[in-house]
Amino acid sequence: MLRKIIFRPFTFIVILLVLLEAMVSVLPQQVFGMIIDTISLDKAVLSKYIIYPLVNIISQYSSYSLLVQLLLLYLIVSLFSLFMSIIRGFSVTYNGERILLNIREKLFSSLIRSNYSYLNTLSSGETTLRMLSDVENVRGLIVGPINGLLIDLITVFFIVFICFRISTLLSILMLIPVPFVVLNSFILGNKQIRISTRLREQMSHLTSITLGRIKGFLLLKLFACEAKEEEQYSLLLKDYFLQAIKGLKVSSAIFPLTSGVQIVVSIALLYIGILRVQEQVLSIGELLIFIQYLGRFYSPFVNISRFYNSVAMSIVSYKKLSKAFQETSENRDIASDESLSHEDYLDFAEPVAIEFDAVSFRYDAGDKSTNVLESMSFKLMHQEKVSLVGESGKGKTTVLNLIVRLICPQKGNIKLYGKDLSEYNTTFLRSRIGYLSQNNIMYNIPLIENLRYGVPDASEKEVIRALSQVNMQQYTNPKLLYGTMGEGGELLSGGEKQRIAIARLILCDPDVILLDEPIANLDHDNAKCVMDLIFSLFAEKTILITSHQKLTLSYSTRTIVI
Ligand SMILES: Nc1ncnc2c1ncn2[C@@H]1O[C@H](COP(=O)(O)OP(=O)(O)O)[C@@H](O)[C@H]1O
Ligand SMILES: [Mg+2]
Repeated sequence: MLRKIIFRPFTFIVILLVLLEAMVSVLPQQVFGMIIDTISLDKAVLSKYIIYPLVNIISQYSSYSLLVQLLLLYLIVSLFSLFMSIIRGFSVTYNGERILLNIREKLFSSLIRSNYSYLNTLSSGETTLRMLSDVENVRGLIVGPINGLLIDLITVFFIVFICFRISTLLSILMLIPVPFVVLNSFILGNKQIRISTRLREQMSHLTSITLGRIKGFLLLKLFACEAKEEEQYSLLLKDYFLQAIKGLKVSSAIFPLTSGVQIVVSIALLYIGILRVQEQVLSIGELLIFIQYLGRFYSPFVNISRFYNSVAMSIVSYKKLSKAFQETSENRDIASDESLSHEDYLDFAEPVAIEFDAVSFRYDAGDKSTNVLESMSFKLMHQEKVSLVGESGKGKTTVLNLIVRLICPQKGNIKLYGKDLSEYNTTFLRSRIGYLSQNNIMYNIPLIENLRYGVPDASEKEVIRALSQVNMQQYTNPKLLYGTMGEGGELLSGGEKQRIAIARLILCDPDVILLDEPIANLDHDNAKCVMDLIFSLFAEKTILITSHQKLTLSYSTRTIVI
């Protein structure tokens, strides 16, 4: 998946541009060498230069002297090379940004389309790091150092080709240290990747802790754990620092080694080159070309070591992203299967609204752990109001999750109005079933958007009416309606949050309503008010309510004990 995003058709055009620029970028030095040879008294063999055929053609059509022709050619080739490098730079970055955009889009999409069990296992720190930091690091592979490195590496091939045409001896000398430099970079590079992996793990842990402590600040405040948290966080930061320094030491070792080799070889080459010029085997222009190419020849090796830190980090991030894509595709939600039509209906002629037929379920399918639900059967009639009671941990929430197909049973069938749940399009199914979950969720968006989250086309008037129906008139004031209620609705009381959730249900107008312990955290008065609201507003609906409070039992017409 990730590979497909990176190797989009435009990437091949970019690679072609890089190749072309590499080819063009070695030409100015050629013309320069020819100019030097023309003005020096050497009897240079100009045909050794790869640009010679072009000069030959130009001389047939131009009456200017060779030197003027070469100077003009030098200007044109240099400008063309500059132009190519601008075009290449732009397209590499443009392509990179497009790739990053696609990765982010796909990553978020596959993440939210993963199934309930997988999403439950995700760590907030790791996920945040993937979404933000890893994608950013991959930029390093696509547009960062690699941008320069790739062109340098391709140029190296052209340089080697040209140099062998000029002098085999000097070319071999230039190549001698390459295996050493590559091996050195490889060994230290692997070390660097290990360090980067560890650094990333530490960063993921740090992000998790930061997010967790901010979200759950109340716990540390109430237990006055500020000092303890500071100390633990500081220890983790120090660990991270030490690891980062370790990485720095490795990358600092590569750079001087490679550069040192380059300096020694340059001097040796200069010495032998001068001798060859004196022996008149080599022209001054050719020697100058060698010296100019030498820097460019070693530049990818030097750069690779200089950029190893970020390249290693990018590789680690790339691997993490590939893994994320693989995991999310393996854990795709059933709701993402759009093969069934949205244009479905519930057959109200069928008297049984919900039917569980010998349903068995356990959370981790691979695990040998016992079933949460064991061969459970019950029926819920159309418009019936039923309480599902049982001790905590017995599986009440699990039953509700099964009805909305957040999870699927391993054995048995669940039917809604006579049809198996799997035969409904899940988007349709969830639009017909209103589920008030126990941890009533609100996003940090304006109240009105929270209210019409599942029904974006609900008008402001409808939202205001729904708010009035749940006795929340005071929130219809535009300042509050368009304001946010804190990250998880923290600025609202428990009862208010519950009533907002009921208003949301009114707007969705489902046929079946599932309520998971709706009054668990409310005092008697608030609980009674919420129950009155639910049973008067949804008198026509089929209701399944989980609870262990006596109050709910008095509202429902029947009780199922789990
Ligand atoms: N996402 C999950 N993954 C694994 N086990 C879970 C998950 N959710 C709940 N459980 C386990 O399943 C059992 C039933 O949970 P639940 O349906 O929430 O019970 P209840 O709502 O009756 O308190 C519990 O033992 C709980 O630990
Ligand atoms: Mg529960």
